[in-house]
Amino acid sequence: MSNGKFGIGILGLGTYVPDKVLSNYDLEKMVDTSDEWISKRTGISERRILDKDIPAFEMGAIAAKRAIEDAGLTAEDIDLIIVATETPDYLTPSSSCTIQNIIGAKRAAAFDMNAACSGFMYGITVAKQFLENGFCGYKNILVIGCEALSKAVDYEDRATCILFGDGAGAMVIGKVEEGYGILTSHLGADGGEGHNITLPCFTMKEEDKNIREHDNKRVLWMNGSEVFKFAVRVMEKSTLKVLEDKNLTIDDVSLIVPHQANIRIIEGAIKRLNIKREKVFSNLHKYGNTSSASIPIALDEAVKEGMVKKGDNIVMVGFGGGLTWGAVLIKWSK
Ligand code: ACO
Repeated sequence: MSNGKFGIGILGLGTYVPDKVLSNYDLEKMVDTSDEWISKRTGISERRILDKDIPAFEMGAIAAKRAIEDAGLTAEDIDLIIVATETPDYLTPSSSCTIQNIIGAKRAAAFDMNAACSGFMYGITVAKQFLENGFCGYKNILVIGCEALSKAVDYEDRATCILFGDGAGAMVIGKVEEGYGILTSHLGADGGEGHNITLPCFTMKEEDKNIREHDNKRVLWMNGSEVFKFAVRVMEKSTLKVLEDKNLTIDDVSLIVPHQANIRIIEGAIKRLNIKREKVFSNLHKYGNTSSASIPIALDEAVKEGMVKKGDNIVMVGFGGGLTWGAVLIKWSK
């Protein structure tokens, strides 16, 4: 960076998942399902569940502290906090403001954003803009994916309750060596298909009530098979888009870290992309779908398992409610 040129990349990573495990066998006692059905159709064996009296932002704050420590910084070095979440404890104050207070990031501005399971890809992309163009003078941005899906899921609906878990992942983003870091992003949305995943807050549209079995419940509802087809399609498309932007091919990729939703979606994308299975990270058997937290939790685990080295091209790719999708290409800088 001595010539004044720099990249924008990951300075630190941190995660947190609750201790409480909800296994497929536990779910067998709650709804009409079986370990065999869940394992075969989703690849999930268990997920972590936050105590119902503990707010989700507490997970985000722990993940944030770990990421700041991993970056070798203090909370006062953080200029902006972006929390991606579709399960905030409060609409106001936002989770980002509450986390700012808990961790003591006194100088930081803070806001929440919601792009469902693609939230972390949107958050990183927003952060990179501030840091690259110097607007507002920000140097270090904390992006957090923080979700307690267990509070939004209907544990009488076997088609959704088996999929989701709770957790948080955080990333400090700042200046890295030129040529490394976040190389490009691709974000997308199709609001016309938004009815396929809904989590109402206040007023529900009549057409949404008509397709929901329990229209009086403010719970997560999903048209699983439609989301499945969409997911396989956009994972392939957005991965190829970020590679194309940088004149790379799938053979240049060392690791894909996909949103952890369903192993069959990941396998579908592997087949379409024609990439080796060992180059695609998965930990969803342990955590299920943690929405915006799933990609940072997976990346942190891949790094800790020694799967990432300096210069590796890594694609993170997500999809989810909105409908939304996004991919981020990183050249690992550490
Ligand atoms: N246990 C046993 N049977 C079940 C269960 C269950 N937990 N859930 C559904 N079934 C039954 C259905 O009722 C259906 O029975 P029927 O044939 O008698 O009608 C049968 O199993 C097949 O149901 P499908 O919905 O066709 O099963 P599918 O193979 O599509 O798997 C699943 C369902 C796992 C939900 C899958 O569609 C999926 O993973 N979709 C994508 C979900 C996703 O990735 N979401 C991410 C975004 S979420 C967000 O942004 C918040």
